[in-house]
Amino acid sequence: MPDYELTDAQRVMERCDVLGVISEEPDRRTRRFATPAMRAANVAVAGWMRDADMAVRQDSIGNLIGRYEAREAGAKTLLLGSHLDTVRDAGRYDGPLGVLVALAVIERLHTRGERLPVALEVVAFADEEGLRYHTSYLGSRVLAGAFDPRDLSRQDEDGVTMDEAIRDFGGDPSAIDREKRDPSMALAYCEVHIEQGPVLERRGLPVGVVSVIMGQSRCDVAFAGQAGHAGTVPMDLRHDALCAAAEFTLAVEGLARREAGLVATVGQLAVGPGASNVIPGRAALSLDVRHLDDAARDTACRDLHNTAEAIGARRGVSVEWRPVQESATVRCSPDLGAALSRAIEALGYAALSLPSGAGHDAVIMSTLAPVAMLFVRCKGGISHNPAEAVMVEDVAVALDVMDTFLANLVDSYNLAVDFR
Ligand code: GLV
Ligand code: MN
Ligand code: MN
Repeated sequence: MPDYELTDAQRVMERCDVLGVISEEPDRRTRRFATPAMRAANVAVAGWMRDADMAVRQDSIGNLIGRYEAREAGAKTLLLGSHLDTVRDAGRYDGPLGVLVALAVIERLHTRGERLPVALEVVAFADEEGLRYHTSYLGSRVLAGAFDPRDLSRQDEDGVTMDEAIRDFGGDPSAIDREKRDPSMALAYCEVHIEQGPVLERRGLPVGVVSVIMGQSRCDVAFAGQAGHAGTVPMDLRHDALCAAAEFTLAVEGLARREAGLVATVGQLAVGPGASNVIPGRAALSLDVRHLDDAARDTACRDLHNTAEAIGARRGVSVEWRPVQESATVRCSPDLGAALSRAIEALGYAALSLPSGAGHDAVIMSTLAPVAMLFVRCKGGISHNPAEAVMVEDVAVALDVMDTFLANLVDSYNLAVDFR
């Protein structure tokens, strides 16, 4: 491998480390939407973008956008990127890797003094994980014109509304509408991301091409029973909300184990009032349901809702069921996928195509432009976990693939190929 490639990839890894210590919490990595930690991450990335001669702006919701102009004015834009927000106690690579590989690809062009017939933008999305307001893909929704202004009144766990958070971050909720991109000027969106699963590692491959991104449904479910004295209320007279939630959680696991292709998770549970000698009166949980087949996902959600009601009725506990968000399974552009595959094969690797169980900004960007995704092998398939790891050699391959992909794309652009 030529030295400069490893140097580029090493720089990406070092920058992941720099961003990796930017956190809201001292002992774990957490960067929620529109927080001081996100501001610090944007400042760091903006500096690197400016060094590559990119025009940098933070948009009305807080997405950081670096633009590398085309050779001539009036050209279409190829969008690249991923997100800089994280889950709670996150790894270093979910999101930042895609932003930093995209930036490194542009740095190569800049170093070579090259401009393309298309403009390139690296978008560092402000909120993909949805940790703060339970609104995944907030950043990409803004570019795609799919932002729901009703979300502005949502409150975080400290009672701060999204509207206030955006203003504090230097954004402008009233200008969000104007960020919508013109689809006729968006050539494509391409995102590099760690695989977050074990397939590439098992197959001994550094990178792979995403075929589809699995649809998902998220719901907030709350069981409301009756708080009472842990010593005096007999077992047969209790309406214990936590026991109902626990039974429901096991039913979620049971259904997902029985149904092929279904994954379902209860990831949050809040119990109240919350004392060792008080019977829980309330238990609120999050439900995440995914399947490649949208109809199967819908059926699973309906079944689980019925199960919750049945558990509640049997235990004398009421059930609140609130759908929070839903996205259908998205197919990546076959033409762009083929272009990525050709770039991988040109480097001497087999081009494996694989589905993504994780959601990505590409889901929403697919409503604006054809999308493609390149996965990078990760260690043990571990993600949403501080132990997330990728190898510098694989990042170097991803960079080379993106470089070749870009050159191929430009040839197609000159031939006026439409990737839709
Ligand atoms: C995004 O990380 C997801 O939950 O799929
Ligand atoms: Mn994630
Ligand atoms: Mn991600």
